[in-house]
Amino acid sequence: MCGIFAYTGKKGKDAGGVLLDGLLSLEYRGYDSAGIYTPESGSVRTPGAVAELRKKIPKGFKGKSGIAHLRWATHGEPTEKNAHPHSDCEGEVWVVHNGIIENFKELKEKLIKKGHTFTSDSDTEVLAHLVEEHLKKEKSFEKAALAALNEVNGTYGIALQYKKEPDRIIAARMGSPIVLGLGDGEHFIASDPSPILPHTKKVVFLEDGEVAVISPDGHRIFKLDSTKVKRDATNIDWSAEATQKGGHEHFMLKEIMEGPEVIENTLRGRLIIEKGLAKLGGLESVAKQLEKIERVIVVACGTAYYAGLVGEYMLEEYAGIPVEVELGSEFRYRKSVINEKTVVLGISQSGETADTLEALREGKRRGALTLGIVNTVGSTIARETDAGVYNHAGPEISVASTKAFLSQLTALALFTMFFGRQRGMSEATGREIAKALKELPEKLQQILDTKESIQKLAKKYSKARDFLYIGRKYNYPIAYEGAIKLKEISYVHAEGCGAGEMKHGPIAMIDENFPTMAIAPKDSMYEKMVSNIHEIKARKGPVIAIATKGDKEIAKLADDVLYVPETLEMLSPILNVVPLQLFAYYFAKEKGLNVDRPRNLAKSVTVE
Ligand code: M6R
Repeated sequence: MCGIFAYTGKKGKDAGGVLLDGLLSLEYRGYDSAGIYTPESGSVRTPGAVAELRKKIPKGFKGKSGIAHLRWATHGEPTEKNAHPHSDCEGEVWVVHNGIIENFKELKEKLIKKGHTFTSDSDTEVLAHLVEEHLKKEKSFEKAALAALNEVNGTYGIALQYKKEPDRIIAARMGSPIVLGLGDGEHFIASDPSPILPHTKKVVFLEDGEVAVISPDGHRIFKLDSTKVKRDATNIDWSAEATQKGGHEHFMLKEIMEGPEVIENTLRGRLIIEKGLAKLGGLESVAKQLEKIERVIVVACGTAYYAGLVGEYMLEEYAGIPVEVELGSEFRYRKSVINEKTVVLGISQSGETADTLEALREGKRRGALTLGIVNTVGSTIARETDAGVYNHAGPEISVASTKAFLSQLTALALFTMFFGRQRGMSEATGREIAKALKELPEKLQQILDTKESIQKLAKKYSKARDFLYIGRKYNYPIAYEGAIKLKEISYVHAEGCGAGEMKHGPIAMIDENFPTMAIAPKDSMYEKMVSNIHEIKARKGPVIAIATKGDKEIAKLADDVLYVPETLEMLSPILNVVPLQLFAYYFAKEKGLNVDRPRNLAKSVTVE
């Protein structure tokens, strides 16, 4: 969702090239138009992709500094005139913006009365004019920008540039992430670290209500009331290569294939197998408080929400703690009963999902202890929660979340051991979970090694227009996750369903053209799943079963079977979801679709 990149340097680099390359690494966020500005050459904007922008840039376009943007439309259609950067009347103040200026209408009316002329439908343009207006009194760009920012309400991540002071770029953050990159003789501003990492690993994250000024030689941070902020830089160890596709055709496949390594990374240093303990450094500061916790409310969206549903089964069964899982977008409209013995646990890959973030803030306001399971280091959720753990899954570029989901489930298993051992889980049970966790990467690799057969299966079913996904208990959320994966990248109708619910409605859809994915491992729900498969077969529905290796019975019943190695029931979702991810991937690929950047979707949804 919208991406910002800005550069200023004295190394003789071509800012245009630096900015365009940076935009490419932000593409994964999802966008519908792109634009660039340098004080020397002006602006170029276009609807569509960065490749289009590159084509439109005239020969001789140059600059030592500049700002660039990928826009995902909110106010105004994705057209050239609405693409960022936007400027003031004179073409001197330029701005790129993520977020929404809520009071833009009032501000725009005021500015029009003062003689300003607007050229777009975007809320963002108002900022450039507001700075222009303040420049009439202030004379200093920095002061004018600060005055303008103090007048706007809403959310923003911003980079502002003034033609008369080309070296300096001003950034500001209110609800939409901004990170500074600190290079040697060059500085950067971006909405996430990915475009910065090829240049420097040294970054500083801005907090809400902070403004920064970068120049080739340095940076300064201050608050909206001008008080100075001192913040140490963080070293981000994601290599630039890690954000590339690593030889795979798509990021999604690369990220699925990284699964075994991701699980190892999530577990690294966190298991004391012989004692059956999970050691979670991120929870140490609140460990005493957690002993008294009586209830956990998980808040999350999309795939992270389905991870939360699996966590509910884990925590209730093994830690004996009541858990509720709530959509981030619904939580704050409920009057949930919360007190200081409640944990509100946010799960988020990006750490920037607005609905999850707001749900956590609401939990905090109402007195809960807030925790996070977050992948993106330094993200807003990571910073605002009282404590938490990082997934350590590395950057996830494809819009469809795959490896992050595996790491979320792995982290939830660690949480379960942590909470469980605080509440009477035996050492033997802890050991059993720890051992099973350690075995997962190798078992997962066995599934990945069968990817060609999953590809064949996807081809076989590629003409189907509808799919039902069913599962029970731990694998009931996996039915939903399998369905969201297929629909978001292939635009085919796919419906998740608790298998027991089938007879209350969804079974009416079944016929010979309506295949069902039945997640039926040999666990406590096996017999019931077999009955459900019989019900579907009786209505001529094709069935693809996800089954435990060696289960010959199910092969007699289902049309096709994808086998998965056996593990503990609570951990089985971590394995069972992978054939579903691969199926969705190959299905969309078979249709020739843009797997990594599905239509209408953004990687990080930073608006509510
Ligand atoms: O960054 P988050 O984990 O908070 O994102 C939550 C959802 O937007 C995300 O999981 C979304 O559902 C994915 N596209 C699913 O693949």
